[in-house]
Amino acid sequence: MASQTDAAAPPPRMQLSEFQQQLDDLAQSAREDFSQAADTESLEAARVRYVGAKSGRLKASQKLLGQLDKSDKPAAGKSFNETKQLVESAFNASVLRLEQNASDSVHQEQFDPTIPGPRPRLGHLHPITQTIEELKDIMGRLGFSVADGPEIEDEWHNFDALNILPAHPARDPLDNFYVSGGETTSVQTMLMRSQTSTVQIRVMENTPPPVRIISLGRVYRPDTPDATHLPMFHQIEGLLVDRQVTMADLKSVLRIFASNYLGTDVHVRFRPSFFPFTEPSVEVDMSWQGGWLEMGGAGMVDPAVLQAVGYDPDAVTGFAFGLGIERLCARRHGMDDIREIYKNDVRFLHQF
Ligand code: FA5
Repeated sequence: MASQTDAAAPPPRMQLSEFQQQLDDLAQSAREDFSQAADTESLEAARVRYVGAKSGRLKASQKLLGQLDKSDKPAAGKSFNETKQLVESAFNASVLRLEQNASDSVHQEQFDPTIPGPRPRLGHLHPITQTIEELKDIMGRLGFSVADGPEIEDEWHNFDALNILPAHPARDPLDNFYVSGGETTSVQTMLMRSQTSTVQIRVMENTPPPVRIISLGRVYRPDTPDATHLPMFHQIEGLLVDRQVTMADLKSVLRIFASNYLGTDVHVRFRPSFFPFTEPSVEVDMSWQGGWLEMGGAGMVDPAVLQAVGYDPDAVTGFAFGLGIERLCARRHGMDDIREIYKNDVRFLHQF
């Protein structure tokens, strides 16, 4: 019987030790392949090689269990399960490793100080402020320093000292913003200054000649707004008083100023005119779009003004000019209408 039984049962085709060796080799090479996978694609390829449901090496080892002796099968099955767990945890460890690498490189990118950050949205100076700064630069190079005066003025500085007599139409309440309603009281009547020529007086009252100043600021007139007029606008005033100053000096300075600010192709024209505080007086026009635009007034400081501030008209002479800053800015930037400057349309302001 015994020999019959021996003859019926086929000998095991695989020894337990051999099976165990195969499992050890499989686990060893799976660990190596997973740990060497440099990206998710190669890790996935390795996973299919070892754990793939159809043709993975684990599946092949599982099939070998049938070739073991029945008595070895419990131990072999246990070894197989342990090996399977080892392979799976080696795979999971590599998944984590690749995820960690990816997140590290993202962090490195976030903190890379060489990568330019998003540009913050910055504002910039208003076109008139920019113009004022540029005009100061140009006149500064010609030796003019900047002087200042109040925007709410007394009649002395806005009119009387400028030789604008009490009956002059320029003092009409309809042409000025009087802050006291134009009534003369014991306190001086005040007004929003209608010209920066007020600063000429303030400087000469406080400084002995020679003087060479500019003053830039707001002035106010009840003018109806149009393409070249606003009720609030800015002027640049210039004043030079010294020995033997002539009209030729005035014209040279204004021509140099115009070519510096507006370009060498700009033409400057001087038309005879009248201002109570200059003699002779001129209107200053600058060429624009095939025609002329009035930019300001100018002239030789009237001896009566020099006397009013205590200067000796026999010892010194001077020139003065006052130009509209909005018109200069418009001419420079090709604007047809100075009202654009104060609409606060950011699409317009952004061009400056
Ligand atoms: C004067 O204001 C004189 N004080 C100029 C002056 C100074 C003459 C020194 C002599 C010596 P006038 O009123 O013309 O002048 O104005 C000068 C310039 O200011 C004008 O040519 C124009 O460019 C500008 N301007 C005048 N009124 C307005 C306004 N309502 N809106 C915008 N710009 C104006």
